[in-house]
Amino acid sequence: MAQPLLDVRGLSVEYRARDATVYAVSGVSFALQPGELLAIVGESGSGKSTVGLAIPRLLPAEAAITAGAISLAGTNLLALPDAELRSYRGRRIAMIFQDPVAGLNPVIDIGSQVAEILTSHLDLGRREARRQAVDLLYRVGLAEPERIARSYPFQLSGGMCQRVMIGIATALDPQLLIADEPTSALDVTVQAQILYQLERLRAERGTAVLLVTHDFGVVAQVADRVAVMYAGRIVEEGPVRDILRRPLHPYSHGLLATLPRVDGVRAHLHQIPGSPPEMTAPAARCPFLPRCSKALSRCREAPPPPLEPAGEGNRRVACYNPIWQDTAG
Ligand SMILES: Nc1ncnc2c1ncn2[C@@H]1O[C@H](COP(=O)(O)OP(=O)(O)O)[C@@H](O)[C@H]1O
Ligand SMILES: [Mg+2]
Repeated sequence: MAQPLLDVRGLSVEYRARDATVYAVSGVSFALQPGELLAIVGESGSGKSTVGLAIPRLLPAEAAITAGAISLAGTNLLALPDAELRSYRGRRIAMIFQDPVAGLNPVIDIGSQVAEILTSHLDLGRREARRQAVDLLYRVGLAEPERIARSYPFQLSGGMCQRVMIGIATALDPQLLIADEPTSALDVTVQAQILYQLERLRAERGTAVLLVTHDFGVVAQVADRVAVMYAGRIVEEGPVRDILRRPLHPYSHGLLATLPRVDGVRAHLHQIPGSPPEMTAPAARCPFLPRCSKALSRCREAPPPPLEPAGEGNRRVACYNPIWQDTAG
């Protein structure tokens, strides 16, 4: 396979507070090809946002990357001088977050905010920047882009603000867009529209998208591949179709069982009994063990490494006793 656009290898991140260290991410590896949409899915606290923030090195000061490598198109981002990294942000790597309104300046009209990112990176006059800003607003599916350009954030809905944020994030045609729970604050109809915008970005402009979400429903709608995180580790990774049809890790299995099914076969929601471990010490055993119904004695000895199950091309599962049954029917 060609060199991936993004290559994350063995990434570990700790948060060091005065009284405790949180081992938030442990040995996470994945790759992303140009134009591919990879979703990272997992419960709150599983380390998804930490992975997303580590890539453009936007982690808070108390965080330390203790192991691993992150490269974008062959360039090691962890070794890049700060000044160069700043020019990567926005231009090559863009981010959007759950709360779009927080990302916008309340006292500047939308058109000026979009134009600002263009003029700060490109040699454009004010009028041309404004024209391109209106174009961008149109491109992210905002009807009446001139009117939106003259508006202030408080005059727009959450869904409109998120479209504006996607416009700003992608104004400079980044190679990689990291979207952290971009639809979690929106209602379901608007959520589908925003996901459609991400889908178009990758199809029309070849932008690679790393989508962080706690919602397997969102994953099923747009992702090519999915990495399931649990307690700071990727427990399973592979094509979305395959994982939806036949999740191998007992955790993915449980997570999928919590999804309501449209055909009514699984009408009520299940819960996985128990709760995720505290990550205040490095894991000495499989972190899912206390909640697992399939555990073997070797699961107590060390966290299982990612294994490639035979005959399951392109899949990885960090489990000594995967489940082999189909979820269909
Ligand atoms: N600034 C921080 N200081 C200490 N612990 C943190 C900090 N940010 C996140 N954590 C902890 O790191 C773990 C992973 O958090 P996070 O990456 O935000 O998970 P997710 O995005 O999956 O909800 C959690 O246990 C969380 O409490
Ligand atoms: Mg998060």
